[in-house]
Amino acid sequence: MQKNPMRIALLGYGTVGGGVYEFVQARSDMEMAYVLDLRPCPDVTCKVTKNFEEICADASVDTVVETMGGLHPAYEYVTASLKAGKNVVTANKLLIAAHYRELVELAKANGAALRCTAAAGGGIPWLTNIERALKQEQLISVSGIMNGTTNFMLDTMHTSGGSFDDALAEAQRLGYAEADPSADLNGGDIRRKIVISANVAFGCVVEEKDVDVWGIENLRAEDISACKKMNRVCKLIATASKPGSTVSAYIEPTFVPMSMLEAAVPDNNNLISLTGKYIGKQSFYGQGAGRYPTAYNVVQDCLDIVNGKKSFYTDKLEPATVDNSGILRRYYVRTDSMDKWLQTNVDKLLDHAIITKEVSVSEIHAWARARKQIDPTCFIASIV
Ligand code: HSE
Repeated sequence: MQKNPMRIALLGYGTVGGGVYEFVQARSDMEMAYVLDLRPCPDVTCKVTKNFEEICADASVDTVVETMGGLHPAYEYVTASLKAGKNVVTANKLLIAAHYRELVELAKANGAALRCTAAAGGGIPWLTNIERALKQEQLISVSGIMNGTTNFMLDTMHTSGGSFDDALAEAQRLGYAEADPSADLNGGDIRRKIVISANVAFGCVVEEKDVDVWGIENLRAEDISACKKMNRVCKLIATASKPGSTVSAYIEPTFVPMSMLEAAVPDNNNLISLTGKYIGKQSFYGQGAGRYPTAYNVVQDCLDIVNGKKSFYTDKLEPATVDNSGILRRYYVRTDSMDKWLQTNVDKLLDHAIITKEVSVSEIHAWARARKQIDPTCFIASIV
């Protein structure tokens, strides 16, 4: 248990960083020593600097909180902080997913804590619950709705019957989408979150590039109508499983039945679940983004360190090969014409689309990636 207040340097005074600053200012067990930002920060009462070296050289700073986002210079600042033996708390999913092994090893080698609960699940205590489950459980899968922007858009399209462009404009107006929403729409954002979740849950290192991903950027109102006719709801679902030695991991729009919890998730909320050998499925629901929910988890990570946590969620780093060939599903496919693969796998013709027979996730994702070169507007969704 830390006796003196934790001395924090906050890197990035943006939406999340500003929330962290407010929370820390209201506490007596931590104090803000520095805020680093290139912009003026007139409200900040502690030292404001643009010079990271000043922070790194200050031995009184025990914890660096990184809320800048992006890969650079966040990577350089975080690695330098860990090498200097400072604890790091970050909300940066891009950084953690891209440099997972290196950062976990670096933290361990330098006796520093590395925590990133806000990076997957925003304000939901997700990684910390995986960590807790691992003390007793063998986790078999992690899955769910992990992107609020796309969930908001899907929910809006379902309830209003409106267009994709209108739903995106509304998500942007409400501030849910990233500045560049392409990573929300193409699944890049949710892919980073499932990679971090799978790595922690299975004690492995999955590479982002190995995870099959199909986003919602080509979704149309007619796809939502077709989904409704099947008495289902379209959700962007990330799934990673490790039932034995193989890891499967993929992201795809999924037509889920009304009876599934995921079908009922409204607005920009997230619903993430873990499945354990003994406990079955446990689900965690809430705000996966936003200033205060995300800042809440950042400060909770700091508190865990104050209370003696000196490690990452797991220290297992087994290399993992992703293999989605064993997962079979039926798919809704909309494309401008039939090709040989579709003809072989068609089960049912709809007005503007087809339903396939059961095919493997890896096979249809490979087909869809190739098909997109011929028909850039094609869309697939699995049917469960
Ligand atoms: N754009 C992300 C989302 C923010 O909508 O979930 C949180 O990672």
